[in-house]
Amino acid sequence: YTITVDPRAAGADISDSMYGVFFEDINFAADGGLYAELVRNRSFEFLPIDNQSYTGLTAWTPNGVDGGAGTATTVDDAARLHERNRTYLNLALSNPDGGWYGVTNAGWNTGVAVQAGDRYDFSVWARTDAAAGTPLSVTVHDAQGDPLATPLTRVVRGDTWSRYTGTLTARRDSDVGRLSVRAAGTGTLRLDMVSLFPQKTFKGRANGLRKDLAEKIAALKPGFVRFPGGCLVNTNSMYGYDASSNWERSRSYQWKDTVGPVEQRATNRNFWGYNQSYGLGYFEYFQFSEDVGAMPLPVVPALVTGCGQNRATADEALLQRHIQDTLDLIEFANGPASSTWGGLRARMGHPKPYALTHIAIGNEENLPNEFFANFLRFRSAIKARYPDITVISNSGPDDTGATFDRLWTLNREAGVDMVDEHYYNTPGWFLQNNHRYDSYDRNGPKVFLGEFASQDNKFFNSLAEAHYMTGLERNADVVRLAAYAPLLANIDHVQWRPDLIWFDSDESWGTTSYQVQKLFMNNVGDRTVPSRFTAPVVPPRGITGAVGLSTWATAARYDDVKVTGTDGGVLFSDDFANGAGQWSAVEPRGAWSVVDGQYQQSDTAALDTLVRAGNITATDYDLTLKATKLDGAEGFLVAFG
Ligand code: AHR
Repeated sequence: YTITVDPRAAGADISDSMYGVFFEDINFAADGGLYAELVRNRSFEFLPIDNQSYTGLTAWTPNGVDGGAGTATTVDDAARLHERNRTYLNLALSNPDGGWYGVTNAGWNTGVAVQAGDRYDFSVWARTDAAAGTPLSVTVHDAQGDPLATPLTRVVRGDTWSRYTGTLTARRDSDVGRLSVRAAGTGTLRLDMVSLFPQKTFKGRANGLRKDLAEKIAALKPGFVRFPGGCLVNTNSMYGYDASSNWERSRSYQWKDTVGPVEQRATNRNFWGYNQSYGLGYFEYFQFSEDVGAMPLPVVPALVTGCGQNRATADEALLQRHIQDTLDLIEFANGPASSTWGGLRARMGHPKPYALTHIAIGNEENLPNEFFANFLRFRSAIKARYPDITVISNSGPDDTGATFDRLWTLNREAGVDMVDEHYYNTPGWFLQNNHRYDSYDRNGPKVFLGEFASQDNKFFNSLAEAHYMTGLERNADVVRLAAYAPLLANIDHVQWRPDLIWFDSDESWGTTSYQVQKLFMNNVGDRTVPSRFTAPVVPPRGITGAVGLSTWATAARYDDVKVTGTDGGVLFSDDFANGAGQWSAVEPRGAWSVVDGQYQQSDTAALDTLVRAGNITATDYDLTLKATKLDGAEGFLVAFG
């Protein structure tokens, strides 16, 4: 093969932060994922409004040992720990003659994961009405009750909330651990914020991130971190109110709910149907971005709920508050420690400002006019106070269509800095749309490709993404930022696939798309140069090994093109010499009827206009292809590797 490049020719400058990651708490990516907390429902705030299967005791089992007895209930009353952390665990203890009574937490996935020799910080907020105090026993054990770590005892004293802490050292490796907190004596013991946190977090940060997951993200060398969503930012309503908890529930993601001491943070219903603790909040997102050398890129709700909900607020005061909150967010990130919100950042442990330069308003907005009216309000308030901040607008949920067109018109007319585009499509779409941005207006708004993925986690999806990303890079003067989505998936709690990195309670693994992203992110160039790819023509028969090519020079039909190999995928192209043709793909794995079905399903359109490859037969990893030339096809390529 020959790749011809002209290094002197002018090409697009590529932004240093061209490729980044998009973190959203979907697929249990935060609690039970990137956030290292090992206790599930630590603050007893799981409510049926979050998910109908929840009770305050979700993940907890009341129990006694050595004859211990009592009752365990969750309560939201005036004795609460904090206005925003309302529900606590009430233990009525009946152990006058000995014994221990309390609760056991099942952790995430198969259980609490511990590693022999590692240290774990336990903490709990507690108060007791027992005059002599209440002894507390803390143990980590397996499902049979056999110890996994050194035990801990404390005595709770006084009927006001205090924090009790201690460290446990694991004696054995396990991913089926349980945490039990039990008390002796009689009286009422109240508990809240029961936490078990590994000391080994990413970069050793307190209230930090799970090491293996954060390290996998860091290894990508992301140029930016987009957070916290996604549809998550809008949640279910803008200002839902739940009378039973006397607290707004299901409301949009509001950054002020997520900062300050963890025991004072709200919890909320997650758009994806579960409870989110906000233990991983805005401070932690900024800190993580800094720790991985990436530009932080927050998304704030525009008060026009996208993601299929299509409601715009008519509440002017609410809109004003959100605009002010956004200004406060910029102060939280960039303001001096002497400012109100910069001061909070300093108190949380980061006196130096974070370098926030970009902020996005809204996500996948379906109501173009309503969204844009709000967007302009946000933008003028931000630009008046922070003229250098890039304010990112929206293009709706699709890669094309009326909403997309309308939003792009509005964005262009208003001279918007940058527009967020999202699309999840077949590999065929990605292969066919390599040239999408060639025709974009060079003087118009820049593109932030905030979410994209080819719709499966197979090898050929990743190849299609890599192919597509060469088109992004060629247009790097227009496309300034791009991120695959979603980033993380807990294998036992999947709302969306494909995903870049998968995990359970103690293991994680990247997909082939992860390897593609890593390849691109670790090798961001300074600028593109024009290039041309030419390939030799080889006979169609007897293709073996890594790659084979054929033209249609001598025949309109080829039967029995043999392809053999041990693993990988098969690609067809009509225009391989330019590297610009339409591609289709099959993966030679599993039952061939299924493979053929997938092939037909995902790539029929691309294939029909180009090359028809039918009657794919195979034994193990030997393929026999029959290919028929259709109008416009120049040749075909079969890649196997
Ligand atoms: O990435 C998953 C979801 O896809 C995001 O929340 C949303 O923006 C898009 O529809």
